Amino acid sequence: LALLPQVAGAQTYPERTITMVVPFSAGGPTDTVARLVAEAMSRELGQQIIVENVGGAGGTVGAARVAQAAPDGYTLLLHHIGMATSATLYRKLPYNPLESFEYAGLVTEVPMTIIARPDFPADDLQGLIAYLKEHKDDVTYANAGIGAASHLCGMLFMSEIETQLTTVPYQGTGPAMTDLLGGQVDVMCDQTTNTTSQIQAGAVKAYAVTSPERLEQLPDLPTAAEGGLASMQFGIWHGLYAPKGTDPAIMERLSQALKVALKDKNVVERFAALATKPEPEENATPQALKAKLESEIARWKPLIEAAGVYAD
Ligand code: MLT
Repeated sequence: LALLPQVAGAQTYPERTITMVVPFSAGGPTDTVARLVAEAMSRELGQQIIVENVGGAGGTVGAARVAQAAPDGYTLLLHHIGMATSATLYRKLPYNPLESFEYAGLVTEVPMTIIARPDFPADDLQGLIAYLKEHKDDVTYANAGIGAASHLCGMLFMSEIETQLTTVPYQGTGPAMTDLLGGQVDVMCDQTTNTTSQIQAGAVKAYAVTSPERLEQLPDLPTAAEGGLASMQFGIWHGLYAPKGTDPAIMERLSQALKVALKDKNVVERFAALATKPEPEENATPQALKAKLESEIARWKPLIEAAGVYAD
């Protein structure tokens, strides 16, 4: 009998506005993905989904907020690869990525681009590397904190070129892009969901993309592997989570709504314009996201340990 209210809740879910936490600033890549998906999921669920930006500490502040929220299906988290890397990067986390959440499904996987302020001296990847090696003390690298995708990409890049740059942390790469465009910071590695239109407009300099092949939307941009950076081939995958203990029937409903959202015409078209695509239906499931998170924690652990970067 004690279970009845919960079962009833799952059957009639959702009955009110849902909050989707984005653990980075508004106007950045995670926010862009979340707002597109939230809008389409809202229509499917018949309830509004509002996006709340809870930035800080490479996405871990927002993730902690959701881990501690009531497991009633009304607080969700849209987070990326940082859910896996922060498990190793942070010595102490106020949550356990594998134990503090329920899973709805995978959302998208986004390539990254290495870019610089519009008047940066280097014109191609080899020129950039040479310039950074020579002027490393004078160049600043923007990221969204330890655990952010921009941090991970920068870590791999600096390790590949054996050159450490001074990093400038932001609560998201939305504000970092504003500073890059304004010339307050020099270099960044950021997702195509934030960089495609700026690169197309010539508003920033672009040097490489981390996808295995060149992108249709940015055909002149070489892959990092073409430029000799073999380890820099990866995508930033995103998943949708809820606090541990959320009813499995609610997670199933969310997964179903996510599947519909990922086939939504506007989502598909906007994602394509940003050089990414929605995950196929079979990946928008709790099982697929759980498996991805587990394998990604295992994949990045040795690489992060080798790089020796930690946060408290
Ligand atoms: C990141 O570097 O992890 C992202 O760009 C964060 C964001 O969405 O701003």
